[in-house]
Amino acid sequence: MINLLAIESSCDETSAAIISDGKIKSNIISSQLQHSEYGGVIPELASRLHQQQIVRVVDAALTEADMHKSALNAIAFTRGPGLLGALLVGTCFAKAYAYGLGIPLIEVNHMQAHILANFIGDSPPEFPFICLTVSGGHTQIVLIRDYLDMEILGQTIDDAAGEAFDKAAKIMGLPYPGGPHIDRLAKSGDPNFYTFPTPEIGKYDFSFSGLKTSMLYLLRKGIKTNEHYIEENLVDLCASYQHRIVSILLDKLELAARESGVKHLAIAGGVSANSELRRRFKDLCKQRSWQAHIPAFEYCTDNAAMIAMAGHIKYLAHEFADLTVAPYTRAGF
Ligand code: KG4
Ligand code: ZN
Repeated sequence: MINLLAIESSCDETSAAIISDGKIKSNIISSQLQHSEYGGVIPELASRLHQQQIVRVVDAALTEADMHKSALNAIAFTRGPGLLGALLVGTCFAKAYAYGLGIPLIEVNHMQAHILANFIGDSPPEFPFICLTVSGGHTQIVLIRDYLDMEILGQTIDDAAGEAFDKAAKIMGLPYPGGPHIDRLAKSGDPNFYTFPTPEIGKYDFSFSGLKTSMLYLLRKGIKTNEHYIEENLVDLCASYQHRIVSILLDKLELAARESGVKHLAIAGGVSANSELRRRFKDLCKQRSWQAHIPAFEYCTDNAAMIAMAGHIKYLAHEFADLTVAPYTRAGF
C-alpha cells in the first residue's frame, strides 16, 4: 500500500490529507478566518497562522486516517504558486518531516492539483480534456494531455475570477471572501437587471479588472441619488455581476472546446464552487454532448486532498524532489 501525507499552505487554508493507494483517507482544513476583518488576506498574518496550526492539522489528518507516521511512504506539499511566506511554512515542514522519517519528498503545483482534484472520485475525465481553473489568484484554460502533461491555453491578464467576485463584494460592503456571499444573494436576484461589459481580449485570455471598475462606477452613480442604493438593489447587483462573470468564463471554455475538438471538459478551483457556474457548465456540456467533470464541493476550494492526489500520481511516476527544493510564486507549470 502507498501512503502519502500531503500539505497545503499556499494562501489562507492550512490543510493536511492522507491518501492510501489513491483513495483519500482524511482531509483536514483549518481556514484562517482572521483575515475577514481586514477585507482580504494579509500575507504576513497568513504565514504566522500557518506556523501556529500546521502541527495540529497534520496530527489530525493522521489520526482521522487512523495511521501512524511510520506507515508513510512519502510527503507531498504545495511548492507554488501562492504567498511566499505561507508556502515556506508548508515547504519547511514537509522537508523536515520527510528528512526525519527518511522518506521521499514530492513537490506539487497548486494549480495542477486543482485540476487533478477531478481524479478524486468515481468518474474521472478521459484524456485529453480541457479544464477551466478559476481561483482567487488565477484563471486559466488548460489542455490536459496526460496527468502531468498540461498546457495553459489562456489566462487572465489582470484580476482572477475569484478576485473579481471578492473585490466587487468588498465595494458592496459584503464580508471577505465575497464569492460565496454573491453566490448566495444572486439566487434571489435578476441576472439581466444590469448589463455589465464583456472585455475585448485575446482568444482564450481573460480580463476582469474592467468589470470590477464598472461595478464601482455604477454604485457611485446610484449612491449619489439614493444613499440606500446598494442595499435596495443588492440581489440584482449580485445576480447580474455573477451572470456576466460566468458568461465570460463559459464562452471562452466553449470556444476552446469547439476549436480543439476535445470532448471532456472540467472545472476546478475555488470559483468552481459557484452554483451558477456549476449549473450552466453542466447545461452547456449537455447541450453539446460533452462530458462534464466537477470535483466534489469540498475539493474545489483550497484543500490538501488535491495535493495528495497530485502527489500520488507523481509518486507512481517516480517524480521526487530533493531537499534543496524552494517555493516559487510564478503562475506557470
Ligand atoms: O482555490 P481557492 O480556494 O484559493 C485560491 O487558490 O485562490 O479560491 C478562492 C476563491 C475566492 O476568491 C472565493 O471568493 C472564491 O474562490 N469562491 C467563490 C465561491 N466559493 C469560493 N466564488 C464564487 N462563488 C462561490 N460559491
Ligand atoms: Zn487554490
